[in-house]
Amino acid sequence: METFLMKSLEAEHSVLKVLIVGCGNIAGGFDEGRSADSFPYTHAGAYARDGRFTITACVEPDDHRRGKFMEVWGVPLGFRSIDELQLSGERFDLISICSPTTFHADDLAAAVSLKPKLIFSEKPVTTTVEQTERMVDMCRTEKIPLAINYTRRWDSDITKLQLEIHTAQWGTLRSVTGLYNKGILNNGSHMIDLLHLLIGPMRVVAVGNSVYDYCAEDPSIPVWLEGVGGLAIQLACAHADDYAVFELQLIFSKGILSMEDGGLFWRERCAVNSALFRGYRKLENDVRRSGDYSHAMLNAVDNIYKAINKNEPLASTGETALAAQRICEEVKQLALS
Ligand SMILES: NC(=O)c1ccc[n+]([C@@H]2O[C@H](COP(=O)([O-])OP(=O)(O)OC[C@H]3O[C@@H](n4cnc5c(N)ncnc54)[C@H](O)[C@@H]3O)[C@@H](O)[C@H]2O)c1
Repeated sequence: METFLMKSLEAEHSVLKVLIVGCGNIAGGFDEGRSADSFPYTHAGAYARDGRFTITACVEPDDHRRGKFMEVWGVPLGFRSIDELQLSGERFDLISICSPTTFHADDLAAAVSLKPKLIFSEKPVTTTVEQTERMVDMCRTEKIPLAINYTRRWDSDITKLQLEIHTAQWGTLRSVTGLYNKGILNNGSHMIDLLHLLIGPMRVVAVGNSVYDYCAEDPSIPVWLEGVGGLAIQLACAHADDYAVFELQLIFSKGILSMEDGGLFWRERCAVNSALFRGYRKLENDVRRSGDYSHAMLNAVDNIYKAINKNEPLASTGETALAAQRICEEVKQLALS
């Protein structure tokens, strides 16, 4: 209630004008047709639900798609291209880049030229480390904060786990295994970014055979990494034609913690004394609980609002995204060699 009142007061004072570039699934499509009280997974859904933002314009080359997006989200201005929008002289506090990844570099450069207070871009930032470096440099030079939608950085289960690892609540972290598909850069970068946040820097030890389950330029690649102190990290691949999967298992001395369904669920198994075999320890039956991932987009736009108005640090930045992309590119080069 208190949070709602605080947000209402903030909204009265400063409603941020938003431009959304690209009006597909992550822009709003995933939330279209869902009930108004369900948690948003998209940019438009999160802005609408938060209430301190107003989407004043969108850019989308597909006329039908643009029309539907404007109607669903109540957007007054629509443009076929960002060039067309630039001619309009419209200005925005915040720009969301939700176009296909191959257009991000051009769209980010155009967004910078519009001088918003912040840019919230979809991941991966661009298709290559070199381009991403240029975009991150450009935003830094122009003093425009850049937030990248590696959504789990705004998931409270993840920030809680980060603290639990640092305070050794689960004992010593012995090893980590992950499972992903649909491209080392497209989805693998989510995993690498998450691991950077949870366990810090890693080096690539070896890679396996590429799985072409997304696009020719971005295969899924099994990889063996090593964290600080020689921590073993293995990422396996499923095939995207079968199902989407994004899971992480952390093997601690006191038990095993698994993130399932991208963070929508968590499974905990604690080590206990075996009643059957004296002197042995075993893992008890699992406890499966709902995760907090469904709040992450709302947490993201709250962080963005406060970054603009109160200089709050962003949880996910161009720099953190670049660090993840560097590992992905190294993995890809090793797989190709
Ligand atoms: N953070 C996440 O978990 C997550 C999830 C899904 C997608 N994504 C990312 O979001 C981006 C978009 O993915 P999507 O699934 O929404 O794709 P999509 O195909 O559903 O939507 C992209 C939209 O952009 C439009 N478009 C094409 N060229 C454009 C241009 N030059 N300028 C503006 N719009 C243009 C297309 O017509 C389409 O409507 C990708 O970079 C993807 O990696 C991130």
